[in-house]
Amino acid sequence: MKVEVYKSTDQNPNLTNYEETRDNFDWQEVEKHFSWHETGKFNMAYECIDKHVDDGYGDKTALHYKNGDSRSSYTFKDLKTASNKAANVLKDAGVEKGDRVFIFMARSPELYTSLLGALKIGAIVGPLFEAFMEKAVKDRLQNSEAKVIITSPELVGRIPVDDLPDLEKVILVGENVSADYVDFKTEYEKASDEFDIEWLDKEDGLILHYTSGSTGQPKGVLHVQYAMVQHYISGKYVLDLKEDDVYWCTADPGWVTGTSYGIFAPWLNRATNVVVGGRFSPEAWYGAIEDLNVTVWYSAPTAFRMLMGAGDEIVKKYDLSSLRHVLSVGEPLNPEVVKWGMDVYHLRIHDTWWMTETGAHMIVNFPSMDIKGGSMGKPIPGVEAAIIDDSGNELPVNRMGNLALKANWPSMMREIWKNKPKFDSYFIGEWYVSGDSAYQDEDGYFWFQGRVDDVIMTAGERVGPFEIESKLVEHEAVQEAGVIGKPDPVRGEIVKAFISLREGYSPSDELKEDIRVYVKEGLAAHAAPREIEFKDKLPKTRSGKIMRRVLKAWELNIDAGDLSSMDDD
Ligand code: WT7
Repeated sequence: MKVEVYKSTDQNPNLTNYEETRDNFDWQEVEKHFSWHETGKFNMAYECIDKHVDDGYGDKTALHYKNGDSRSSYTFKDLKTASNKAANVLKDAGVEKGDRVFIFMARSPELYTSLLGALKIGAIVGPLFEAFMEKAVKDRLQNSEAKVIITSPELVGRIPVDDLPDLEKVILVGENVSADYVDFKTEYEKASDEFDIEWLDKEDGLILHYTSGSTGQPKGVLHVQYAMVQHYISGKYVLDLKEDDVYWCTADPGWVTGTSYGIFAPWLNRATNVVVGGRFSPEAWYGAIEDLNVTVWYSAPTAFRMLMGAGDEIVKKYDLSSLRHVLSVGEPLNPEVVKWGMDVYHLRIHDTWWMTETGAHMIVNFPSMDIKGGSMGKPIPGVEAAIIDDSGNELPVNRMGNLALKANWPSMMREIWKNKPKFDSYFIGEWYVSGDSAYQDEDGYFWFQGRVDDVIMTAGERVGPFEIESKLVEHEAVQEAGVIGKPDPVRGEIVKAFISLREGYSPSDELKEDIRVYVKEGLAAHAAPREIEFKDKLPKTRSGKIMRRVLKAWELNIDAGDLSSMDDD
């Protein structure tokens, strides 16, 4: 296929030059931006909010929240006060520096203020996506030994308190809260609006994001305070955030994009941040851009494909002229989508590649760079990327291999919670190995090829086949299950399960639906298989491991390759 090149626009001659920045880049220079460079006192919440009040920007709008027709706005001063109050509520509930505090609620102003409040105490925040059901919640809280969780009446029933010995308090944001819980709103009203921020070290914990791998339970990826250096500079260069920008990142804070780029990067850059509650619809999304005059918009290929599917007519009903910079993350951004973006928005969609583990941007279409449709772009200044073989040797251009990054950069994860072997397994020598395969072309652009492992990317969310398989086999009818990602034009991939049934059960559409609902209600909606196929027997290795590779080959009608390890009797 012919590669389309989209030139960097001449509209904005002030864009930071890529090569020049990269060649002169020094992380220590970036540190000078922060107050801790002088004081040695670290706190992410201070740098995001209070510092701007201290610097005289207290009356600037920090947050627009929109959900349907309701809308509210908060200045930096408002958020300073609100997060101080939330910090006092949490402190009264016993939260101390280093404790894990989970936040499990739908996007709302309280989600953001309580997250900032927890950070002011020096707690490590664990954000949980609202779609998680009981088992997913339990696994994450157990693994991290969470002390406190903040939640809402709709979700509180999914927290199995009896199985969580370390959980001391459940804080409920709602009305008429029973005595079993801490009543957030009542405590918040009573709380002082002064709070002494806990000053931390650069390597103290910040946030714990659970993410899926191919073989085990979800792993807790720990990031530290020092990550802010990279959140700040990538917000400045890649998101191109300026003083008067109104910035909207569509991701939920349950995922890393929703914290690194939905909270930290915009506020470290003093931008006005937009949060839109409720579900996706083209009307709601274009309406938000129009109403709030969004200038910089960060979303995902799945969303762009859905907007593309909604047709070009709807775009014309909204005034999107405030938009000046559009970015994408989460899965491969199809060249057709970039082309469509040029046609309807008259803007380039800038792809960015990174992972929960990397904490911030790694490979991007820098604003001043020419975009090759379908390419992820080049490493950000300060990061070195390469394609390596399984022994750690760098491969020449145009050869596919492991996409790897030279550790260390500021936002690199510091540990997999309580799992050193897992952490160590990411490295070959000095290289962090991403689990993606890619190649680099003669101009230095990186091209994504696929995951090396069996991790499924569905609608921009990473789901581990093992977690779903484990849930499936808990269903009374399921003997064995193998789960793969099946290519899908809108979602990138969908979850497909191959299932063999126990004695006494026979395949039917009702059973498929029952199994689907079982995963949806027991684990998470996005993990529920959209397709189920019953098989008498699943392909396994002699050691009894289900061979997802073979299931995938069946699905795609391709050769399954070397089957020597398969147990075929
Ligand atoms: C995996 C990481 C960090 C943001 C959201 C996902 C895939 C991410 C791209 C991209 C192709 C991409 C990779 C990666 N991915 N961005 N621009 N092009 N693939 O974070 O859940 O940690 O998933 O998402 O496979 O390894 P995550």
